[in-house]
Amino acid sequence: MSASSATIKKKLPVASDGTARPGLLLAWYDRHRRRLPWRPPAGERADPYRVWLSEIMLQQTGVKTVGPYFEKFLARWPGVDALGRASLDDVLRMWAGLGYYSRARNLHACAVAVLRDHGGAFPDTEEGLRSLPGVGPYTAAAIAAIAFGRRTMPVDGNIERVVSRLFAVEQTLPQAKPLIRQLAATLLGESRAGGEKSRAGDSAQALMDLGSSICTPKKPACALCPLNDDCAARARGDQESYPRKAPKKSGALRRGAAFVVTRGDQLLVRSRPEKGLLGGMTEVPGSDWLAAQDDMAALQQAPVLKGVARWHRKAGTVTHVFTHFPLELAVYTAKVPARARAPEGMRWVPVATLDDEALPSVMRKVIAHGLGG
Ligand code: ADE
Repeated sequence: MSASSATIKKKLPVASDGTARPGLLLAWYDRHRRRLPWRPPAGERADPYRVWLSEIMLQQTGVKTVGPYFEKFLARWPGVDALGRASLDDVLRMWAGLGYYSRARNLHACAVAVLRDHGGAFPDTEEGLRSLPGVGPYTAAAIAAIAFGRRTMPVDGNIERVVSRLFAVEQTLPQAKPLIRQLAATLLGESRAGGEKSRAGDSAQALMDLGSSICTPKKPACALCPLNDDCAARARGDQESYPRKAPKKSGALRRGAAFVVTRGDQLLVRSRPEKGLLGGMTEVPGSDWLAAQDDMAALQQAPVLKGVARWHRKAGTVTHVFTHFPLELAVYTAKVPARARAPEGMRWVPVATLDDEALPSVMRKVIAHGLGG
């Protein structure tokens, strides 16, 4: 056990009925909270605009990637009024690289709605927040708790994991979600009399931080956890097996082709449709992914480009397992001259800046295979 968690425990002994958990959690958060650009100094109420902006960005993107984008947005549009007056094109340009572009469209629509329908102030209830574009149940709960101190617990994947371990929830996901939400709410502690400020937002962010730094999917650092004495999964010794998941029904193998086209040091890419698998993310052009597709059918879907006389098939295939099907891709390469234009809906990006693109891991594998020697 670390010195710091020992100190916390001395001050706040664990009660077997779990009533000490909310206090232990907040004491841990006060010492170990991550410094993130959207979090105000300890004890200060967060600005709703910053909370909303960060929560939208964090919907499908990790904390590390979001940080610089959040700072850029805030510098350009310091408040919801400025963002609501910006053009959608400017917002989309600033969003470039974060992926899932429907979020950027909704972000702009939401800023406009807050100005037009709410006098420039975000609604301060979950229900009011849910009426805004791009704000679903999770995001509404997160903003309500963090920005307005509402006693509600947003439950993301990190919190789901912490709670399912703490209470050894045997039900499998996703059926267990309502139970996990109920149990997560017990970590908010008792409501306080006398109008004392709720720390619901801190409790939620404490669980997020705990889930990302200590109660990790693999090899959780239980010795450092403020709730370890009271963790049912730890007592059983099978923490990593929570949250329980139903065995995967793996779908039939799908096959397709991916086309790695270079023009000097640039690569031909396009964006996937906003809706559906890997929505809005960047990919190299490719065929459909179908069960029992043969190579010739896939190759016939190659992009039409001046200067490509012949596609070179790279030896081997790239495989990737999605949650509901495995995929096998043949990779074809071509080099085109400097004057070659990108087909409609596609664009050239320098290979050196590919890290800035929202490339799913299957595409990283394809590109590495296609550009590899
Ligand atoms: N993920 C979603 N919201 C978050 C927050 N407020 N802090 C850290 N990670 C988050």
